[in-house]
Amino acid sequence: MKLNDKAIYSPEYNIEKIITVETQTASLVLAVCQEKSLLTCHFGGKLDNPKSYIASGPIVKGEELPKTVSAFGGSEHNSTLRVTHADKMISTELIYISHFNKEIDNNRSETIIELKDKLHNLHIELHYLAYQLEDIIECWTVVSNNEVGIITLHDYASFELALSNQTADYHLSSFYGLWEREACIQEEKLHFGKKTIENNFGTWSSFGFNPAFLLSTEGESNEDFGEVISGAYAWTGSWRIDFNYNFNKLAHDRVQRQLLTVSATNQTVAADYHLKQGETLSTPKFILNYSQQGTGKISRNFHRWARRYSLRDGTTPRPILLNSWEGAQFDFNEDVLVDMMDGLVKMGGEMFVLDDGWFGEHEFARDSIYSGLGDWQVNRTKLPRGLDYLIEQADQRGLSFGIWFEPEMINPNSRLYNQHPDWVIKQPERDNILYRQQLVLDLSNPKVQEHVYRSVANILDSHPGISYIKWDCNRSFTNFGSQYLSANNQSHLWYDYVKGLYSVYQRVMDDYPEVILQVCASGGGRIDFGALKYHHEFWASDNTDALQRVYIQWGLSYIYPAIACANHVSICPNIQTGRSLPLKFRFDVAMSGRLGLELSPSDLPENDLKFVRKAIDSYKSIRSVVSTGDLYRLMSPYDSDYSIMSYLCDKERKLVLFSYKLKHELGQLMPTIKLKGISSKSYYLIEEINLYEEQQPHCQQNGMAMSGRDLMNRGLRLNLSKEYDSAVITFTEKVEH
Ligand code: GLA
Repeated sequence: MKLNDKAIYSPEYNIEKIITVETQTASLVLAVCQEKSLLTCHFGGKLDNPKSYIASGPIVKGEELPKTVSAFGGSEHNSTLRVTHADKMISTELIYISHFNKEIDNNRSETIIELKDKLHNLHIELHYLAYQLEDIIECWTVVSNNEVGIITLHDYASFELALSNQTADYHLSSFYGLWEREACIQEEKLHFGKKTIENNFGTWSSFGFNPAFLLSTEGESNEDFGEVISGAYAWTGSWRIDFNYNFNKLAHDRVQRQLLTVSATNQTVAADYHLKQGETLSTPKFILNYSQQGTGKISRNFHRWARRYSLRDGTTPRPILLNSWEGAQFDFNEDVLVDMMDGLVKMGGEMFVLDDGWFGEHEFARDSIYSGLGDWQVNRTKLPRGLDYLIEQADQRGLSFGIWFEPEMINPNSRLYNQHPDWVIKQPERDNILYRQQLVLDLSNPKVQEHVYRSVANILDSHPGISYIKWDCNRSFTNFGSQYLSANNQSHLWYDYVKGLYSVYQRVMDDYPEVILQVCASGGGRIDFGALKYHHEFWASDNTDALQRVYIQWGLSYIYPAIACANHVSICPNIQTGRSLPLKFRFDVAMSGRLGLELSPSDLPENDLKFVRKAIDSYKSIRSVVSTGDLYRLMSPYDSDYSIMSYLCDKERKLVLFSYKLKHELGQLMPTIKLKGISSKSYYLIEEINLYEEQQPHCQQNGMAMSGRDLMNRGLRLNLSKEYDSAVITFTEKVEH
């Protein structure tokens, strides 16, 4: 396109066209002006008539609206899109070309907006997929190079949102943490300047920070009230989310306007991406979520959406499993494992999962972290009759069988490393940097992708009795370098690795649809909606200390549904923290998600077994409510000495309440607990479950039927009078008035 050299930049916009993306309660309103810029007018509660608001409200000709995509080099001073074009020009100015809307079904519609650089044949498509009922908009960007030659993408965003609300008082909650301390919540007021949450680990998405946030626009966040905008990034690698709070640009001779720009990208440290002529790049998806009823509604939106659209078999309750790791670590043989199975059967469990240590032969036997990764052949010294024998033993006991893999990784002490030293991520001239004695296989290489797929597929093909895989990933990138990518494209590693990983996940999912997949990365290093698309659940943390788990599970509950959150009961003292907690407390905490066990049954005292059996039975009676119910958080462990929440399942007309006492001091008051979300017109039968035989119920109204109105307005009285007391109470809807 030839530019008119008389055309000078003008900040005056005449709006020509309005594009609206809507859900049940939210509207994203974009405008195309005569000059063809695409501008963001509004994101927030639904507007009846955005056109009249724009004509009559604060947005009038002469006032600058933020661009929907800040491209570097035009009128923008910040950028979320920065490109070196094929002719080496470094500036980009995007203009609107067209848009259209696709109705997918009565709950989903997708709006696609096409933009283009004024001068170059660089095309950008903005995708907004709106989910009505769940108040979610999935956003992503497709960049196409139609220029003659190669372009370099220095920055690109999946999504950018400009919020220009004068009265806003933004408070950001983010989820920080690392190994054994995942998803801690911090809330802070956003002041002018830039706040970034990010992750540069390459293979992990959720150590450092989980890729998600809550942005309360009206002061500190509240569980039930106020506007909250939330986002979660569906990407299992490095990422960055920026909150850039500043004056709107070009405001020196005008009314000063503040602007908060939120943007999410997978483009982090030194990860320039080149596109050849005709190539496109599709960014990861950003899940935008909206609530006018506080953070509680945000969570219910995410959970409902995930169960319906983005988690595998999102509403099928998961089996109660025993995982061998904490109980046996590397030290087992056939008898030890079969003993564990026997114990599990007595407890009423449903699946046995064999963790690390079953593979690698002879000098490469996986008897410690020092060897074996990469050699996915059964260690016949340890397991002479192979996996078949174990599967058979499990089957004879009515248990299904699962197994641990870490197929992206390799120990230098392995047969595979001797054959393919060129398959690891490293710069060829530099020394290996070991972490947990292992290296990362280079999944940008299609041959490695094939190998990783085959490692898993071979075992599944030869053992059709395997119905579950725990897919682990225990280290991040260092020594950045791909021995497969060309010298020019070394910086593609971060993006291509994750794409390679997704293609392997996809094949495993397509070829073995019945196999349940758990995502694990040293515990909770890969808890994100990108990974969950291929998995049924995540291992929330290697930390099985129930007290710390209360906080970890509480943090994760803001974004991720309980059905996917694997919580395992372990022995005392806890091997990570040394803490001893009552068995009931440990069960009550684990039962609020997908219950499992992380122990050797023979390590439990005989009289504990009776309670375990009962607890597992109790869990079975509430599993579907926990798995598919709506979460209502009632009392936060961050603000009180209690942690209390409930799941309400309309279909089963049942609510299950979990309450934990975290700290006890004499003279402390126990608050009454007002239920949320139930019908004020119904009566509910109150039953406390999971008590020891002689134990008095904690709930004073146990056995009574109470009106929903009373339970919500007056509440429930619970007698949690000792440290680590806990109670699980069911409320079954009975009769209407
Ligand atoms: C990681 C996982 C653990 C366990 C070990 C085995 O740390 O998070 O659950 O599987 O690896 O090596």
